[in-house]
This record gives sequence, C-alpha cells and structure tokens, in this order.
Amino acid sequence: MPPFYVTTPIYYVNDAPHIGHAYCTVNADAVARWHRLAGDDVFFLTGTDEHGLKVAQAAQANGMSPKQWTDALAPRFQAAWKDLRISNDDFIRTSEPRHHRTVQRFLEQIHRNGHIVKDTYRGWYCVGCEQYYAEDELVDGSCPVHGRPVEWYEEENYFFRLSAFQERLVDWFEADPERVRPAAKRNEALSFVKGGLQDISITRTSIDWGVPVPWDPSHVFYVWYDALVNYLTAIGYGEDEPRFATWWPAVHHLIGKEIIRFHCVWWPAMCMAAGIDPPAHVQVHGWLLVGGEKMSKSKLNQIAPGDLTSDFGVDAVRYHLLRDTPLGSDGDFSYEGITARYNSDLANNLGNLLARVATVVGSKCAGIGPAPDPHSRLAPVATEVVAEAAGAWAAFQPAAALEATWRLIRETNAELEAAEPWKAEPGPAVDAVLGSALEALRIVALLASPAMPDTAADIWRRLGLAGRPEERRMPADGAWGGYPGGLTVEKGQPLFPRRKG
Ligand code: MSP
Repeated sequence: MPPFYVTTPIYYVNDAPHIGHAYCTVNADAVARWHRLAGDDVFFLTGTDEHGLKVAQAAQANGMSPKQWTDALAPRFQAAWKDLRISNDDFIRTSEPRHHRTVQRFLEQIHRNGHIVKDTYRGWYCVGCEQYYAEDELVDGSCPVHGRPVEWYEEENYFFRLSAFQERLVDWFEADPERVRPAAKRNEALSFVKGGLQDISITRTSIDWGVPVPWDPSHVFYVWYDALVNYLTAIGYGEDEPRFATWWPAVHHLIGKEIIRFHCVWWPAMCMAAGIDPPAHVQVHGWLLVGGEKMSKSKLNQIAPGDLTSDFGVDAVRYHLLRDTPLGSDGDFSYEGITARYNSDLANNLGNLLARVATVVGSKCAGIGPAPDPHSRLAPVATEVVAEAAGAWAAFQPAAALEATWRLIRETNAELEAAEPWKAEPGPAVDAVLGSALEALRIVALLASPAMPDTAADIWRRLGLAGRPEERRMPADGAWGGYPGGLTVEKGQPLFPRRKG
C-alpha cells in the first residue's frame, strides 16, 4: 500500500477553534479518508502549536501559566475535531516531551552542519504573526495581516543561514512544478525566493515558554522554528528510522495562504540544512471570510464549529466547507450560503433521490431492491463520474470531486423523472429503472463517504448493503453493477429535512 502522509498546520492555542480552522481540518480529513478508500496507507496528523509569545500572552491575560492555559485549550481542539468526525491518526502538542526532544535533535543537526550562527537582530515584530517584518512590508506602519501596530525588537540571537539556500530552493521548485499548488501560490513563493533571502533569527531570550536551545539554554527556539518540526516528531525522526523512512518525504502539507513563506521557503531549507529531503507537496488554501473579513478574536466575527453542527448536522457542515470553497480560493461564510447549499444539494438532490427511490421500491417491488440494468443510460455517466471524482480527490480538489458526484445524483433524478416508475405497472422495466437508481446511490455513497462519512453509511444501510462504504475499495468497487439486488430497502426518515431559507 503506498504511503500517504497528510498534515494540517498546528493551530495556535491563543483562542478556541473556529470554522476557519475547521475548513482546513475537514479538507485534510476528507482527502485522508479518500486515500484510505483508495487503499493507501494513510497517516493523518493535526495538533496544537503551544509555544511563543502569542500563547504566553493569552495565558497571562487569562491569569494562567502557559502550561495551565494550553492544557485547557488543547482539549477544545480535540473535542471540536471529534465532533466533526476528523479521523486523525495522531494529535501532536508542541509542549510534549517527544516534540522537545525532536526539535533539539533536528536543530542540533543543523547547527552541527554549520548553518546556524550568532548575531544581533533589530526589526519590527508582529506578535499576532509571530514574525518580523521589513519596513517596506508594513501597511501604514502596521502589520499587513493583522492591521495592528508592530513593535521594535532588538535581540542577540542565533540565525539560520537561509540566504545560503536560495539556489537549492529555486532548484527544488523548478524540479517539479506541482510541489506547491495551486500554481499562483507556487509562483508567489518562488518569486520570493528569487528576490533574495535574508538569514532568519531562530531563537529568543525574551521569553522562556519554548524549547530550550541545547547548546545555549539561555535561549529558546523561536516558535515557528519549533512548530514546523512537529511534522517530523510525529513520525519518529531520529528515534525510529524505519518509521520515519516510511512517511518522509511523501508528505502533503495542507496550509493557509498566509503561512506559505514558512512552509515553502523556510521549511524546505531547514530540511536541506539538516540533511533530509524537503517535503514532497504543499497544498495552499485561501481563507474562509465572514462578511468579507478573516475571522479573528479582535473582530468578534468567529463562528465555532459546534454552533453550526448542532444546527445543520455534522455532515452538512462538512459538505458545505468542502463544496463551497475550493482549495486555493477565498470563500465567504454566511448562514444564507450554507442554508442554500443544504436545501439544493442535500435536501432536494440527494435526500429526495433516496426518499423517492425507496418509496417506489416499497410500492412497486414490495420493498426489495431490484438489480441494476447493465445497459442503463446511467452506467456510462457513473463510470465517467467515478473517474473524474477519483482524479479530483487525488489532486486535492474535494469541491470538484463533490461537484462530479452530484452530477450523478442529478442525472439519476432526471432519469427517474423521465421514466416515471411510480406511474408504471410493476415489472422488468420498472425493476431496471429502480435497480439502476439504487446502483447510482450505492456509487454516490462511496464517492461521498470521505466528505460525509455518517450519511454515506446511512445510505449504504438503507440500501440493504452490509458493512460501511469505507470498508470498500475505490475505484474498483465503484464499477457499475455492484448492487446485487434482492436486498431490503428502507425508506426511513428524510436524510436532510428541508430548511426554511
Ligand atoms: N501555528 C501556526 C501554524 C504552524 S504550522 C507548523 C498558525 N496557526 S493559526 O492557528 O494561526 O492558523 C492555522 C491555520 O488555520 C492556517 O493555515 C490558517 O490559514 C488557518 N486559518 C485560520 N483562520 C482561517 C480562516 N478564516 N479561513 C481558513 N483558514 C484559516 O498559523
């Protein structure tokens, strides 16, 4: 089984999870689920980024030590992901001893390789970003991301000689144009590299909430320098070589657009400096906006995933996040948007298809689902849809995969409307139409299972099929003709009752 290692960024625990975080995590989860369905050996990692000034300040503002604060906040992320049916194989917290050990080992190696030097740093720092900015990057003297004033910092610390890696980074980008996707983001990162690289300060003496520098314990590593290493900690870097070799460098980092520089410039250079291969692939996504703005604590426009799942249901929220904002673009979240998508795709198209097929199987076939017609007009449609959806899932395009899947649903509804089996006499013609609709629903359940695991399992069960869709293999089990017929079909309650919009 080919290995497929997929990661989300690790989330800062300065605040509770919101649907922007959920957007990234659900996309990574759906892709991981697809790869399991495709028979790959999957390792899916998420977690929390617990060091740095931003988290220390949040702890202080809440009258807690950083340790108390992060111990209180990390479980909120874990609970949110459990609620959203996230299937991560590990959850890493950067305050864990295993991570401290790995950061020290990895950076010690870079130090030994001669890529870390001591110097003085002066510059504008944004605590929100945990990043220095050059004068010309500021917007009206403030941080270009947060719009808040930056602070002047001056520190003697250790520097990573990023400038020495410019050429190797250009080669890394140019050897494979698919390393960073989409292409616009790749070009952005590449032109940043070509524009010339400055060495970066990687340690701090101003705080002690971090991983101590092994060769000079008066310093801790700068939070980004420790955070990126989480991707190695979880797969046994320096501790379990066979395990590490299984998953690295076949990794896929899913990240938001504001952290491209860290993942597509610093991170590959750090890997090169430590003597390991850089990551195979970085997939960039845009932001989920609310009222045109990025969600943030200061703007009071954050929406907790739990508020949506308790209202719309988990799978409807997952579907909306995956379907409405393709990876790479920004999307605007609104109640009108999620309601409209729910009513059109879930209630009217999918829910209605299942309900009407099950009803007519009840009235014309005594509730026993007939076998599909091998010559159904839907057969070639399904074959095409399976191929298209499989390609889209493999290319990190869940929105396109779902769009293709819903084409099969619409075509099946259209076929039923043309044949009107509810008006016909029971017999082979009605059986052929209904059996084919059941077969289309079986294939839809398989294709939709990475996005909506519980709904897919529910459809599967109502069709009379044993087990769960995720126990099958795609694309093989998506071939037309898999529904055996002769199974009891259950109508049950509407899958997605229509909502007032
Ligand atoms: N801790 C760093 C990442 C370290 S990875 C080694 C960090 N944390 S974060 O919590 O600020 O952001 C984590 C991810 O959440 C980023 O990829 C970011 O783009 C994403 N999102 C945060 N708000 C978002 C939206 N409103 N919409 C979509 N994703 C956004 O950066």
